[in-house]
Amino acid sequence: MAEPIISISHLRKEFQGTRSTVEAIKDISIDVMPGEIYGIIGLSGAGKSTLVRCVNYLEKPTSGEVIFDGKKLSSLTPKELRAVRQEMGMIFQQFQLLEQRTALRNITFPLEIRGVKKNEAVKRARELLRIVELEDRENAYPSQLSGGQKQRVAIARALATNPKVLLCDEATSALDPNTTNSILGLLKKLNRDMGITVLVITHEMDVISQICDRVAIIDKGLIAEEGYVADIFMAPKTKIGRELILGDAIKEVKFSEGKYYRITFDGRQSQEPVISNIVLRAKSPVNIMYAQTRDVGGIARGQMVIQLPENEEQQREVLQYLRFAQIPFDEVDTVAGSEKQDTEETEE
Ligand SMILES: Nc1ncnc2c1ncn2[C@@H]1O[C@H](COP(=O)(O)OP(=O)(O)OP(=O)(O)O)[C@@H](O)[C@H]1O
Ligand SMILES: [Mg+2]
Repeated sequence: MAEPIISISHLRKEFQGTRSTVEAIKDISIDVMPGEIYGIIGLSGAGKSTLVRCVNYLEKPTSGEVIFDGKKLSSLTPKELRAVRQEMGMIFQQFQLLEQRTALRNITFPLEIRGVKKNEAVKRARELLRIVELEDRENAYPSQLSGGQKQRVAIARALATNPKVLLCDEATSALDPNTTNSILGLLKKLNRDMGITVLVITHEMDVISQICDRVAIIDKGLIAEEGYVADIFMAPKTKIGRELILGDAIKEVKFSEGKYYRITFDGRQSQEPVISNIVLRAKSPVNIMYAQTRDVGGIARGQMVIQLPENEEQQREVLQYLRFAQIPFDEVDTVAGSEKQDTEETEE
């Protein structure tokens, strides 16, 4: 078996405030294998950025270890650490390009710092501009580029030193859906053609489902669940997992007044006619607001959002049946759901 390229073990990171201590990461262990696209997803404040900053030691963990390509980062000298960081390219939501430099000279920047000769640096930058499909914009300044183009320049810059890993912290969060798709396509291409390992940090399940092989869902500084994306998508085991997966999918659904529940088919109730049973039990129809289920060899997997009958007695009957049949369910907080969206945008 191959060794992980990134091995995070029992990582913990606290921040000392004036009055209290924030435990941004409590205890996280993750192994990322060479050549994979690994996703880390969580709500705002879950600790995602802190985690990725600990991976390249921009932030020193309070305890726990990060081993990169066989090297224990805690035991490296500052000089060795700088060398290791060159093997980890990083891109951000806000691109972080140098505004006074052209696209080309943004990409040559990390090479200039390393003392690479100017003509060599320019040659490499042009090659990278071709890879990110911006060869005709080498003289453009960041202000003259669209968000997607800026992110392409940032990706090219991150690749300049030939890193083994690309760390992406919300790299598509500032982009519209089409541009997001094109950037995700580019990351996938880099992964496939250059074998670069990609660590994707996001709060959007769509991003995970489009390009990741495996995913860790983090919640309040801990891993809630972890595994292959296909498995987690079809049968999330935790409430936060279900929220993130269905929360994204049901953004489009228009909810009116009422009680909504998300039920999860985790593969156990294969032949059971769940909806008919609910209807029989409550003696009232239930409204299916959203369904994403799949029958795999007679086993039901997926999720559904139903609207309960108005009558409270009937509501109790439905929930009693779900409990009895051991079908996982959570109430969908439609109002809080939309509030969460709003605060996420305005928070820094
Ligand atoms: N330098 C810092 N000093 C103090 N607290 C911090 C610092 N950096 C992060 N935190 C706190 O640690 C927690 C996790 O923050 P982090 O930025 O890692 O979350 P996140 O998952 O990246 O969120 P978002 O999706 O909003 O980017 C938060 O409570 C945050 O306020
Ligand atoms: Mg963050």
